[in-house]
Amino acid sequence: MSAFIVLGAQWGDEGKGKMTDYLAEEAEVVVRFQGGNNAGHTVEVEDKQYKLHLIPSGILHDEKLNVIGNGVVVDPEALFNEIDYLEGLGVKVTPEKLIVSDRAHLIMPYHRVLDALKERARGKNDIGTTGKGIGPCYTDKIERCGIRVCDLMHEDVFKEKLKENIEMKNAYITKVLGGEALNYEEICAKYLEFAKRLRPFVTETSVRVYDSIKADKTVLFEGAQGMLLDIDYGTYPYVTSSNTTSGGVSNGVGIGPTMITNAVGITKAYTTRVGKGPFPTELNDKVGDWIREVGHEYGVTTGRSRRCGWLDLVIVKTTARVCGLTSLAVTKIDTLAGLEKIKICTGYKFNGEVIDYFPASLEDLAVCEPVYEEFEGWGKEVADARSYEELPENAKKYIKRIEEFTGVRVSIVGVGPKRDQTIRVGEL
Ligand code: GDP
Ligand code: IMO
Ligand code: MG
Repeated sequence: MSAFIVLGAQWGDEGKGKMTDYLAEEAEVVVRFQGGNNAGHTVEVEDKQYKLHLIPSGILHDEKLNVIGNGVVVDPEALFNEIDYLEGLGVKVTPEKLIVSDRAHLIMPYHRVLDALKERARGKNDIGTTGKGIGPCYTDKIERCGIRVCDLMHEDVFKEKLKENIEMKNAYITKVLGGEALNYEEICAKYLEFAKRLRPFVTETSVRVYDSIKADKTVLFEGAQGMLLDIDYGTYPYVTSSNTTSGGVSNGVGIGPTMITNAVGITKAYTTRVGKGPFPTELNDKVGDWIREVGHEYGVTTGRSRRCGWLDLVIVKTTARVCGLTSLAVTKIDTLAGLEKIKICTGYKFNGEVIDYFPASLEDLAVCEPVYEEFEGWGKEVADARSYEELPENAKKYIKRIEEFTGVRVSIVGVGPKRDQTIRVGEL
């Protein structure tokens, strides 16, 4: 029995999509447990590139079951656009390959409107969300006025819940946020059409995942975002609205934590972040610009340029602790090729001492000064390596230091965006 997690150890975009696609070869079931179409997961296979937002990255393999778990927030319009996009690229998306939890909450048009209006109202304190309605949808879930997939499957229930929500939301949108009211009839008709197309995909996914694990099938849980965007352990309030950590899997899928065997943290060989919020090792200089260009660091979901900086091992070590990582996958080691010197942050100077954990308070974080270790760079031949032995010596030293500092083994090294540009070093 094996049920393992693939999650982001930084601020997202670590290469989870690529790793999930690669590891899906070893799994029968791939499950998303949180987030929504705020995610942007890129997978490259041969000469084709696929951009996934809501559908698990196992979909490119035939014969795998892909699951959108109860912890995910589902925008049906985005889901169908993604299905059409994939089918256009020759990828079949049938109810045999994809199932959606009846407990998942629906992203409604008013969630997207509220996301935009609240960001506008925050002014210079905006979060820099993806604008997909994620925060407002999770807010309704906790507020207990959300509309779930199972509600959409019952026309009368859906109509009643939508009516109540539209009345409340319109009052808030027009009177508090200065926006325009939404039309009940239009939304109702649109979603009832979505319901027809959604129905064959909808099921009690928790049972399917549980039964798969019990039947000794390998299950992969694909995280979205990253540990530092976690609602509890991230750089609050500059975070997303779900639990991106290992802890989120159990709740977001409906299986007990004792069924999960491994957790693989994905970390880039450097650090990036999109949107606002603290970033101690950010490089606002030529090196940062260089990494952005060479690493194509532009958001998959919003197209925004990503902020870039040195690898921060304080963050990765914190993720290792909070998520119980059993191994690490280090991606984009090829991107750094050509730099003469490369730095790794191994602590923060804070109140006269050096700490190696990530502080909760943004005010404390603002006065933390990164402590760096410097490493010799390596050359572009790194992209051709297909085994650990073939990696340049300096790249190996870099990887060794990551293992030593975090106390976690490196199981995979990424040397390029394609499925085959991946080096398997050891057990997950
Ligand atoms: P995700 O959100 O974690 O799935 O990551 P994104 O897809 O948003 O961003 C990661 C980017 O890096 C994508 O363009 C991937 O194709 C690419 N990528 C992943 N692993 C590697 C790697 O090892 N080397 C290089 N050069 N690119 C990679
Ligand atoms: P993947 O899965 C990077 C960021 C947004 C913003 C904050 C809140 O591709 O790694 P939200 O729309 O979720 O309310 O935005 O979270 N964010 C991501 N950053 N990668 C992602 O997903 C992200 N999803 C959300 O930029 O700062
Ligand atoms: Mg991404």
